Amino acid sequence: MRSIADIHCHILPYVDDGAEHAAEMEKMLTSQAEQHVEVICFTPHLRTGMFTSSDEDVRRRFGQAEEFVRRRQLPIRLFLGREYYCNEEFLERLEAGSLLTLGGGDALLMEFSGRCDADAICEYIKRAKQAGYQPLAAHVERYPAIGANADQVKRLIDAGAKIQINASSLLGHEGIRQKLFCWKLMKLGLVDVVASDAHDPQYRPPVLGECAHRIETKMGQACAQKVLWDNPLKILSL
Ligand SMILES: [Fe+2]
Repeated sequence: MRSIADIHCHILPYVDDGAEHAAEMEKMLTSQAEQHVEVICFTPHLRTGMFTSSDEDVRRRFGQAEEFVRRRQLPIRLFLGREYYCNEEFLERLEAGSLLTLGGGDALLMEFSGRCDADAICEYIKRAKQAGYQPLAAHVERYPAIGANADQVKRLIDAGAKIQINASSLLGHEGIRQKLFCWKLMKLGLVDVVASDAHDPQYRPPVLGECAHRIETKMGQACAQKVLWDNPLKILSL
């Protein structure tokens, strides 16, 4: 079984719309270990007016996760980051340098409003890049501005972004359109990272184990190794 790294997930409890309580966190961490996920970077949302947990809150919950992993002796290394919703507050934080990068490296996980057009998305990416960060565009298959058009994803890459897609989209859990688009991006070699974006044990569970198997079957071992291990580790500066 291959080793997997998951650098986009909502497993910490009480901080966003991910795990509702410690038992859900524990269930998801156990499931990740069973699927050979050996590295996890938690990425709680930060979005003005909706998900507002402070970095201190998030760090406290991170300690809880570390404690659980230690107690159960799960073979998982844990890291912390955030998923930043790009708006004015994000730009202010960018200016102030008060952002949590993925695992303390230089990468920022960025998500965009459904109302952003591709120009606006590229502008956020360029601003983050100019500020010295490596932008990682979260679940690019989901944005109306991208419109299941690979050329739009290439624009994000040209602006300086690395590209992340969700395991659930590749597996078809989000509908046939997203599934076909994700496989097209994989075949074009435009995907840097596949991550779980897991939110709970039931409706949006971690499914990277099954996804790894599917990628190996359709694209080969080397491709799976790249998007599920090598690239995520590089992004964490490991
Ligand atoms: Fe997310």
